[in-house]
Amino acid sequence: MNTSTIQTEREPALLKAARMEKARGTPLWFMRQAGRVLPEYRKVRGKHSLLDICRNPELAATVTMQPVERFDVDAAIIFADIVTPLVGVGIDVQLVEKVGPVIDPPIRSEGDLERLRPLDPGEDVPYMLEALRLVRSALPVEKALVGFSGAPFTLATYLIEGGPSRNYATTKAMMYGQPDLWHGLMSRLSDMIVAYLRAQAGAGAQMLQLFDSWVGWLSRRDYSEYVFPYTREIVAAVKATGVPVIHFATGSGGLNEVIRDSGADVIGVDWRVPLDEAWASLGDVAVQGNLDPAVLLGPPDVVREQTRDVLRRAGGRPGHIFNLGHGFLPQTPVDNIMHMIDCVREWDASHAS
Ligand code: CP3
Repeated sequence: MNTSTIQTEREPALLKAARMEKARGTPLWFMRQAGRVLPEYRKVRGKHSLLDICRNPELAATVTMQPVERFDVDAAIIFADIVTPLVGVGIDVQLVEKVGPVIDPPIRSEGDLERLRPLDPGEDVPYMLEALRLVRSALPVEKALVGFSGAPFTLATYLIEGGPSRNYATTKAMMYGQPDLWHGLMSRLSDMIVAYLRAQAGAGAQMLQLFDSWVGWLSRRDYSEYVFPYTREIVAAVKATGVPVIHFATGSGGLNEVIRDSGADVIGVDWRVPLDEAWASLGDVAVQGNLDPAVLLGPPDVVREQTRDVLRRAGGRPGHIFNLGHGFLPQTPVDNIMHMIDCVREWDASHAS
């Protein structure tokens, strides 16, 4: 066997799936796998704040590796937060426990836009890039390192609302009432995200996920007009590095016929639409998802049935990456996670051709 065959054999299954090639088994990893549910993470968190972990490359690398070691998942997602690049350019962000990011004062005017200066990743978030390098050197060759960024709409909601929101009223009011300010903010954020993701690719990320967590609150019309052009631009600029892109949004079933044209290699689907229906509306693209994370709060037989349902709907098609429909909920029992993973591996073994 020559070297290139060995390299192809050990190429991360996730990268094969992104190209819609058949991989050995169903590649799997989980959003929010690092942290929250793991006692070994809580132990680290007991001594350090979330942002302190992010700013310390050794600690960030350690907690990034914890779920890989515990669950033998096919990918590591770098430990950071969607606010990391905002913190990098000097925005005052507090990560409030059980609430999320709080930004005070928020961004509401043209003058406020100046606070969002361009990001220079090497200067502004060197710790994140160093953490990626550390993880890449610790990670087995056949596992993929996933970098990520919040998408501009989701980041804009935090900046404008000043924190998490129920209905994104202030954000939408700006979109409709001050379109120049809205587009000014979205362009600045898009430039920031492109610089941030490209730097992650340079530091060893092999896949890059764009999280548009809250975009499902928009109508299809507004999404198309106010958000999607930025998504497409970011995806194109990032893909130019050669690193595949995963686009993930929640509550976005109604947006699939727009999102399918994003140019992303993989589209993450949330749990609200059955995987086969979502895939049909997305077309010829790899798909990631989509077990409802709350299923993992149920008894093992429900976990098994619903995990198998996702796999049945994927039907063994190349290009399926098993994941949740959103991140793990903090109260998820580790045993149920193990059980879900066993169910996927068991399914693969019984359907191997
Ligand atoms: O494992 C991973 O996925 C990597 C780490 C990661 C974190 N945040 C660390 C974190 C990732 C990918 C994120 C992304 C993120 N952060 C998103 C997009 C993903 C999504 O879930 O839609 C969003 C919207 C945020 C903003 C944010 N940060 C929220 C809403 C919260 C939860 C508040 C809480 O306490 O429940 C956070 C805090 C946060 N970021 C935690 C972790 C592990 C929570 C626990 C802690 O304080 O350690």
